[in-house]
Amino acid sequence: MTTPAPLETRAQQLVVITGATGFIGRTIAAAVRRDGWSVRALVRRPDAALAAEGIDLVTGALEDEASLRRLVAGAGFVIHCAGAIKARTAEAFHTVNAAGTERLLAAMAQVAQPSRLILMSSLAAREPSLSAYAASKRAGETIALADANTTARDLCIVRPPAVYGPGDLTTLGLFRTLGSRLALLPGRSDARFSLIYVEDLAELASALLRKPSWGGQIIEPDDGQAGGYRWADLVAVAGRHLRRSVRTCYLPAGLLWGPVKAYEAVMRLAGSVPTVSTDKLRELFHRDWVCRLTPPAACTCWQPRVQFSEGFARTWSWYTRSGWI
Ligand SMILES: NC(=O)c1ccc[n+]([C@@H]2O[C@H](COP(=O)([O-])OP(=O)(O)OC[C@H]3O[C@@H](n4cnc5c(N)ncnc54)[C@H](OP(=O)(O)O)[C@@H]3O)[C@@H](O)[C@H]2O)c1
Repeated sequence: MTTPAPLETRAQQLVVITGATGFIGRTIAAAVRRDGWSVRALVRRPDAALAAEGIDLVTGALEDEASLRRLVAGAGFVIHCAGAIKARTAEAFHTVNAAGTERLLAAMAQVAQPSRLILMSSLAAREPSLSAYAASKRAGETIALADANTTARDLCIVRPPAVYGPGDLTTLGLFRTLGSRLALLPGRSDARFSLIYVEDLAELASALLRKPSWGGQIIEPDDGQAGGYRWADLVAVAGRHLRRSVRTCYLPAGLLWGPVKAYEAVMRLAGSVPTVSTDKLRELFHRDWVCRLTPPAACTCWQPRVQFSEGFARTWSWYTRSGWI
């Protein structure tokens, strides 16, 4: 197993990142660059912003084995952050999140230097029966764990809960809801869930690179809110920040199920990716999305800095400045 370079030689250590054009991967790439490492990223199309940060770009995809071999050549670390968070079918989720991980590992096995792997999984992987997305993320973990067992590769699986922050399209709808006077919430009033601000997750990925080994551990990082949040906590934060009273209405699953199922069927027939699905409803109505395997500070040199009150303010400000809200 390779040991990380001391501070002054980080620039000579190559960190490969997949998914660096996405919400989380882009923030991780910036954090890792700030920390002084050399970074190479897989991109499906040219990305001037990444290139301007001094990141070496390899054009390719998880389906293109030759590009994956070029990508990982000489890497000390691979942070595998590319993934499908929306897809038309279960097979499409599997192709990217499970088979894509397998192809990346196969490419890593073909190059001379062994590299260490951080797999960006999801808390959803804890409940693989809830959705095709969750099942595909669990399958990706299983593939990475089996590879680590047979090759002795050093592996860390990171299972973030819901990630939010500037630039995120997925939680934009939630922020719009929280910013209205009547928050219509598709979920249960007694559900509890953890959150993490994207910069904190990126700092965690960067801090992990400084650890000499991870030993295949699975971590579920959150923003430090013990026991997670309830929807009412989020509504209260939004109300305080926006200085308005926000009323809450919980939309029952039974009311949403039929229309969402019909919408999903139409989108499938049209060959389009549905933005909401019955799978997503099952995830939303799950009662417990609280992180349990939180990384102890002593083990990661990392502490979350941004709780939801601060994260809401920063993200709201970014959305309004950018004209998204
Ligand atoms: N957002 C969350 O709340 C959350 C929570 C837990 C876990 N995660 C996990 O974190 C990872 C990143 O999520 P995100 O929110 O940043 O998603 P995102 O914004 O949709 O980014 C996905 C990234 O993966 C790349 N990608 C997708 N399919 C690919 C393929 N076949 N080949 C190469 N690259 C491909 C995308 O490239 P293009 O730009 O070319 O499309 C993009 O860079 C995912 O693995 C997701 O499961 C996310």
